[in-house]
Amino acid sequence: MKELKILAVLVFFTLLTYWGIEPFAYSKMHKSVAYTDFVYSDLPALAKVGDAKRGEVLVKGAGACLGCHGIKSQGLLPPMGPNAAAASFGVNPPDLSDVGTLFDQRFLAELIKNPVKALMLEHKFDGKTKFFPMPAFAGAGGDKNQEVADMVAYLKSIAPKDVSAKDAFTVSCGRCHANRYGDWTQIGFVPKTKSNIITNKDVDLLKFKIKTAEYQADLAKYMGKLPPDLSIMIRARSEDFMKTFVENPGSQLKGTAMPRVGLTKEGYKKVKSYLEETGDPSKSAREALGPWVIGFFVIFTILALLWKRSIWKELH
Ligand code: HEC
Ligand code: HEC
Repeated sequence: MKELKILAVLVFFTLLTYWGIEPFAYSKMHKSVAYTDFVYSDLPALAKVGDAKRGEVLVKGAGACLGCHGIKSQGLLPPMGPNAAAASFGVNPPDLSDVGTLFDQRFLAELIKNPVKALMLEHKFDGKTKFFPMPAFAGAGGDKNQEVADMVAYLKSIAPKDVSAKDAFTVSCGRCHANRYGDWTQIGFVPKTKSNIITNKDVDLLKFKIKTAEYQADLAKYMGKLPPDLSIMIRARSEDFMKTFVENPGSQLKGTAMPRVGLTKEGYKKVKSYLEETGDPSKSAREALGPWVIGFFVIFTILALLWKRSIWKELH
């Protein structure tokens, strides 16, 4: 009886700590911030229905998007490589093939009209002394809202319905953040070498490393600091922090240089799953091992029981 009472007291305090004290302490240490499930209600809804055909003409013409961005899925390469881009803009403008799926359409429309507002970077680029490298679309002579809606419609029309987790990460975060565990640096995936003798591949790797270092130097100048490697960020920060931060970086880090990236909820899920996958690469192997371990214990228990019985049989 005494043992049972001790157990009850123990269980009581364990549960109290788990459900009462720990969450309370957490809520005191982390401020809770507004979170809207990646709905950008501070931005106006699209007033016009876009026409993808007209949008294509604008994106490739008056919109000037191709002056800085590539659209690989349409066979349109970027006008310059990541290093030259970082030297002129501070950062490499992302490929636009997937943005129609990854990013919210209100966000995209505002980004074209007024990038600094969409990206929530008004505190960094005042438009008088400090200018954001992507210009606001001035209009092509017609109804500007219609033209913007047309370009968004075009970007949506060419984007695949399903973007891979890896692409979601490289397009929305990869120009600023490396991911060591995923072999990603801001300029691309690290070339693989495995020989222990020096080959041309090692020369490629060295060149790649030099280019990465140069890119990172330009990026750090543009951002004020080098954005952190995201390999284990998903484990270091809570789930709640990650989603509120990506939805609105300023809500967690006031005055931060990281822009609001404008992901849709699904887009964010993709990025998150990529970070989980690379941050904990042995997870699936570990989970696959589980049933085997349980199976081992079941068989072991049965054998032990049989053995015990056979010994006791002899004693009686
Ligand atoms: C003069 C160069 C330039 C032009 C022209 C330009 N962009 Fe950009 N764009 C950039 C740069 C640089 C960035 C990255 C800025 C950053 O991350 O701070 C960017 C970022 C973007 C992003 C990513 C935003 C995000 O949330 O991650 C999209 C989408 C985009 N541009 C679309 C367009 C479209 C559509 C057009 C044409 C209407 C266009 N851009 C025209 C330079 C340009
Ligand atoms: C245009 C560059 C840029 C892009 C794009 C970008 N980030 Fe960042 N990020 C930064 C910078 C700069 C910092 C450092 C912020 C600071 O310390 O103020 C940062 C910091 C972070 C942090 C650390 C916050 C902390 O607690 O210190 C996380 C997590 C993060 N970014 C996640 C992401 C994710 C996820 C994406 C893509 C969905 C992304 N970032 C896209 C520039 C960027």
